[in-house]
Formats: sequence, structure tokens, C-alpha cells
Amino acid sequence: MAVKRFGVSLEEETLELLDSYVQSNQFPNRSQALRHLIELHTVEKKWQCNNEVAGAIVLVYDHHKNDMSRQGNEVQHQYHHLILASQHIHLNHELCLETISVKGQARELTDLADKLIALKGVKHGKLVMSRT
Ligand code: NI
Repeated sequence: MAVKRFGVSLEEETLELLDSYVQSNQFPNRSQALRHLIELHTVEKKWQCNNEVAGAIVLVYDHHKNDMSRQGNEVQHQYHHLILASQHIHLNHELCLETISVKGQARELTDLADKLIALKGVKHGKLVMSRT
């Protein structure tokens, strides 16, 4: 994609904020940081407007607790049309780490993530919102 240049006017304080953002996130330059911020905003809008989006649901759970494996599986089957792939790793004797890649309408993906994260036995759960 062709790159266009443009001039940006910012108050000194705002520019300092941008530069500290660039530094703390290890961006190579201001352009890369701005690209990242615009992308974040775009993804957030797409999720708010219920567009087709993609993402990942990350779950850490105790597979001994409350039949979590069976219930989690049941929920995933209900939403099978949204699930692209899933990866299950046995972290240790009790805990499993599951990463479920998803694509579909934002609201449905949020419902699926909420249902999985709310299951008893889930220690940590997060929906990573990205886009297609
Ligand atoms: Ni496991």
C-alpha cells in the first residue's frame, strides 16, 4: 500500500505523551505508534457496530472442577459456526490453557466468550478483539 505523508500539529505536551507512548511500547517511530492507535480505534468501532470481526478467547481452567471440560465443550458446540480452531494445552496437573480462534458477528462472539468465561472452574478468561 502506498504511504502518504502529512504534517501534524500538536501541543508540546501532547507530543511528549506520544513520544513516551512510542518509547514505552517500543515502537520504532511515531508513524508506527499512530498506525497502531488508529487500528485500535477501528477495531473497537467494528466490535461496537456488530461488524464481522475476528479474535481469540483465552481460557485457563481447572479441568477437575464442576465438569468444566464437558460444559465448555457443550458451549463450543452451540457456537460451532463461529469457531475456526482451538488449541488445548495441559499446563500442569490441574490447569488447562485453551485458545479458541473465532470469527463472526461481534455480538455473537461476545456472547460465546461471556458464556465460556462464566463457567465454574475458569481461573482466567479473556476475549482478544481483533478484526478480519
Ligand atoms: Ni488439559
